[in-house]
Amino acid sequence: GPGGRFEAENATISQGVAESNHAGFSGTGFVNYNNVSGSYVEWALPSAASSITIRYANGTTTNRPMNVNGALVDFPGTGSWTTWATRTVAVSGSIIRATATTSAGGPNVDYLEVNS
Ligand code: GCU
Repeated sequence: GPGGRFEAENATISQGVAESNHAGFSGTGFVNYNNVSGSYVEWALPSAASSITIRYANGTTTNRPMNVNGALVDFPGTGSWTTWATRTVAVSGSIIRATATTSAGGPNVDYLEVNS
């Protein structure tokens, strides 16, 4: 199917806030997850995806793993909040939810890309 980029700040955000105070993001900003387990961003894609890439920053030295549609994905430190990295995840379906699994919450998330 078609690829495309879907900004986190335009997705459904539960226990997080769209911010723009760390440079290097795409779109108008990124999502700062609240520092709680269970905070999430959920994207409703126009069609089902089988592979996605999430762009993120984690300015700490502690991994912030997230559950992405059932897959536990590591989001290790990137060195600073303005240093962005990507993680690619195999998924199914068109609703993609990335949920923080530790009390630190998720990393800062810039966007989801569908890999066509
Ligand atoms: C800092 C940083 C935020 C980040 C937060 C965190 O406050 O400025 O962008 O989300 O740390 O640890 O989650």
